[in-house]
Amino acid sequence: MNYTFHQLKVFMAVVEKESVTKASEELNMTQPAVSIQLKNLQDQFEIPLTEVIGRKLYVTEFGKELYQIANKILQEVANINYRTHSFKGMLSGKLKISVASTGKYVMPFYLKSFLKANPNIDLIMDVTNKTRVIESLEKNEVDFSLVSVMPEQLDMEQEILLPNKLFLTGAVDRGLDTSKPMNKSVFDEFPLIYREEGSGTRVTMQHYFQKAKIKPKVRFELTSNEAVKQAVMGGLGYSIISLLSIKNELKAKEIQIIPVKGLPLVEQWRLIWHRQKKMSVVASAYLDFIRLNKKQIYQQHFSWLEKY
Ligand code: PGA
Repeated sequence: MNYTFHQLKVFMAVVEKESVTKASEELNMTQPAVSIQLKNLQDQFEIPLTEVIGRKLYVTEFGKELYQIANKILQEVANINYRTHSFKGMLSGKLKISVASTGKYVMPFYLKSFLKANPNIDLIMDVTNKTRVIESLEKNEVDFSLVSVMPEQLDMEQEILLPNKLFLTGAVDRGLDTSKPMNKSVFDEFPLIYREEGSGTRVTMQHYFQKAKIKPKVRFELTSNEAVKQAVMGGLGYSIISLLSIKNELKAKEIQIIPVKGLPLVEQWRLIWHRQKKMSVVASAYLDFIRLNKKQIYQQHFSWLEKY
C-alpha cells in the first residue's frame, strides 16, 4: 500500500463532485493531473473505486467505503497539524460553519472575539438556504451549522444560543390600528410573502397556520429573508419575519410589526453538529468558547429582543 494523502484528497473531491472535471476545478489542478492521481490510487486496489457508464462517473460500493475511511484519515491528519499549533500555544486550522439564511444576523456576534483571540484560525462560513445547510451536515462538510428549526432527519447535538421570535410585519401604514392585537382573520385580508420550500421560517409559519386552521393568501415566494424583508418594505405584501432581521428597519420606521393573537412564534437559534462528529481541536475549542461566552454575548448584543 503506497497511496498518499494527496491521492486520497483527490479521490474525495472526485467522489464529492462526481466528476473529474469539477474535482480538478475545486482542487486547482489540471484534469489530466487529477486522472493520473486517481489512476495511481486505483492501481493499488484490485476492486474498482469508480466506474464510468455513458459519460457519467459512478462511485462503487467499495469506493464509497474508501471515501468514508479517507475522510477520517484526512481529518486525523488535520488534527495532527492543529495539535502541533495548539501545543505551541497557538490554535490554528479551519472552522467550517454553514448558516441558514436568517442566521446571518446572529453568527458574526458569536464568532468575533473567538476569531480575535485566535488569529490563525481560518473561518469558512457559508450563509445559504436551509436545504444546502442540511446537505452540508449530511456530507460532513462542516463542523457546525446555525439553524433555528432542527433538521428532523439527522441525529444532532445542539447548543441553544438565543430565541428566534417571529412577527407578522408589513410596510409602515399609519392608517392601520396596531394598538391592540388583531384577530387571525387578518390573514384572510393580507397577502403573504412566503420563504422558499425548506426554510425554517416557512416551516414555523406553516405549523402556526395549520394549528390555528388558517388558510393564508399567498402572494409569492422568495428565497431569502433579506429578499422577503425588502418586498415587505416595498409594500408588495406581508410576512412573518424573524425579529432579529428587522432591528434597523424598526428603528428607521421602514417596517412595522402587526400584532396578532398567537404571535410572536418563538423558536431558538442553535448551533448544531452531528452526534458522531469527531471534532477537530479548533471545533472543540470553539464549542468551549460558545459554552463559556454565549450568555454574555446574548446580553451584550441581543437583550434588545426582550423589548418585543
Ligand atoms: P431560514 O432559517 O428560515 O432562513 O431557512 C431558519 C432555520 O434554520 O430554521
